[in-house]
Amino acid sequence: MNESKENTAESLFKVALVSGGARGIGLAITRRLLQDGFRVAILGTRPPEQLSPLLQSLATSGPVRYTQGNLADHGDRQRFVAETMADWGRVDCLVNNAGVAPLQRADFLEMSEESYDRVMAINLKGPVFLTQLFTDQLLRQAIRPDGLRGTIVNISSISADTVSTNRTEYCLSKAGLSMLTQVLAARLADEGVPVYEVRPGVIQTDMTALVQERYEKLIAEGLFPIRRWGQPEDVANAVGLLVSGQLTYATGECLHIDGGFHIRRL
Ligand SMILES: NC(=O)c1ccc[n+]([C@@H]2O[C@H](COP(=O)([O-])OP(=O)(O)OC[C@H]3O[C@@H](n4cnc5c(N)ncnc54)[C@H](O)[C@@H]3O)[C@@H](O)[C@H]2O)c1
Repeated sequence: MNESKENTAESLFKVALVSGGARGIGLAITRRLLQDGFRVAILGTRPPEQLSPLLQSLATSGPVRYTQGNLADHGDRQRFVAETMADWGRVDCLVNNAGVAPLQRADFLEMSEESYDRVMAINLKGPVFLTQLFTDQLLRQAIRPDGLRGTIVNISSISADTVSTNRTEYCLSKAGLSMLTQVLAARLADEGVPVYEVRPGVIQTDMTALVQERYEKLIAEGLFPIRRWGQPEDVANAVGLLVSGQLTYATGECLHIDGGFHIRRL
């Protein structure tokens, strides 16, 4: 995009990239960012034909585009950013949301290298190198009139610092994402790019459907000070606040969206 077009009023829209933005927490984030006036580019694994009704309904709130691809794949990550640039000519915000649980919960002694590689490739390596591509593009763009160049939000998990001995690879991937937030917040502080972590507790989505009964019981017993499931919108509201530009001096901050689970209690 040439310099003069970039500075016209017409180009003052903002573009958000949301990995896994067509389901669960990511879908709530997409809806929230569309409501807040962003154009949203989604990366997801399902073929677009399966998502036509959803994408059409999202498009009633604002411009939305979809790239089918695997976050763990180098070429798919490049295509996601390239297609978004081809359509909209700029990027402003990246939400690293997509992630997977291990296919099977297994004790540390039984964890396979295959499961470790799968979880780390999607939950950590994918976001690291998608963020590298995003940042490379972002730093070519001018600082906006609001003083910001862009924003990065990483969706980690309470597993970043809460141990599950039967999900070692998941905990490691989320702890890594948490450190990525710190590294990037320091690296990009002088560039007008705040970087944040959102750390959800137990959120009611497809990911937790398989362990629903277990969590119902734990929640009823008071595992969280606020005795209810987290909802995808709880996480989306946090992302909306962080990308609004109101908390720029808090770069590197982590928002716990967990019903108070992180509070140490006796
Ligand atoms: N649900 C929870 O309780 C909870 C708690 C803490 C953190 N999280 C994190 O929040 C994020 C979203 O979780 P969710 O509950 O909405 O899960 P979900 O399974 O409902 O959705 C995950 C999304 O990620 C996408 N995705 C998965 N693998 C991908 C890949 N290889 N390439 C591209 N996209 C891929 C899926 O298509 C889907 O849209 C994840 O990173 C998860 O670890 C979830």
